[in-house]
Amino acid sequence: MNHARIAGTGSYLPERILTNEELESMVETSDAWIRERTGIRERHIAAEEELTSDLALQASQRALDAAGLKASDLDLILVATTTPDQIFPSTACILQAKLGIGGCPAFDIQAVCSGFVYALATADRFMRNGGPRHVLVVGAETLSRITDYTDRSNCILWGDGAGAVVLSRSTDPGIISTHLHADGQHRSLLEVPGGISQPGDNPDLDFIRMEGRAVFRVAVNTLDQIVDETLEHNGIDKSELDWLVPHQANIRIIQATAKKLNMSMDDVVVTVDRHGNTSAASVPLALDTAVRDGRIKRGDLILTEAFGGGFTWGSALIRM
Ligand code: ACO
Repeated sequence: MNHARIAGTGSYLPERILTNEELESMVETSDAWIRERTGIRERHIAAEEELTSDLALQASQRALDAAGLKASDLDLILVATTTPDQIFPSTACILQAKLGIGGCPAFDIQAVCSGFVYALATADRFMRNGGPRHVLVVGAETLSRITDYTDRSNCILWGDGAGAVVLSRSTDPGIISTHLHADGQHRSLLEVPGGISQPGDNPDLDFIRMEGRAVFRVAVNTLDQIVDETLEHNGIDKSELDWLVPHQANIRIIQATAKKLNMSMDDVVVTVDRHGNTSAASVPLALDTAVRDGRIKRGDLILTEAFGGGFTWGSALIRM
């Protein structure tokens, strides 16, 4: 039986840091309010000339180095993003060109904050079927480009960045199971309403709008359910988990999931304080942070989960 195993991780954050103190001079807010409600202290913002594919390239090169592979070894490229460089071609194709390779399939996955988990699940299905040997899975975002910095209700949340993993074919399961869901009924609670096929031209529609309190409520309940689904599907007890690597939306949502799992916050990877919410990039950024600082080791059992616009949500149980 073919399986997908994480062979290397990488990530990249733009140099520029936007602090809560700076936001205080942009909108009516305070460092104390932001930290108390979200856990965020600062976030990274891409330079004007830095596109999503540039962030993705840096993270990908680091993941390839960690895996001991070259770009030419890749058989498939998946990029999860809500902020593609352009309408088409896909950011995955642009990344492929920037990696200096051609020929292998490459495509984007759009599931907002759940995008990386969706991409991981897609790569895993390809690899179980025995096709690709090495797959690059990236989550990359320049959310600052769709952020309205006059809207204090959500501009304090978002950050830019990229994370990547290289999956290699293995006889032992690395990606043990993945679980994906979506429900478009409440899509207007979290959206960027503008779009190519919309009538008229209203630039006000090109920014994130969110009913924060409603999203928060649904996110906590939904993540509870996906955690149960993942544990039950695999017949494992929560005590067997070594790490929770959650989507980094809000420290209070992360704490609620940790509580549900009876996990100490010492066993939860938290980057939201320094990265903010980087949507599809948040899970691979958090994973790479904990791999590189030595917390997550080969053989560890990891639960990762995400919830985002759509609504979409998903989880993956991973043996490193
Ligand atoms: N600074 C100061 N005050 C503020 C700010 C701000 N930046 N923003 C809102 N407020 C005020 C509000 O006006 C309100 O004032 P009022 O009581 O006088 O009306 C008060 O603070 C409380 O506002 P709420 O919106 O109820 O605050 P809440 O505690 O819900 O926190 C937050 C807001 C942080 C956005 C939270 O709701 C949240 O994190 N929601 C979930 C976000 C999320 O998980 N998104 C999912 C994934 S993202 C994706 O897919 C792209």
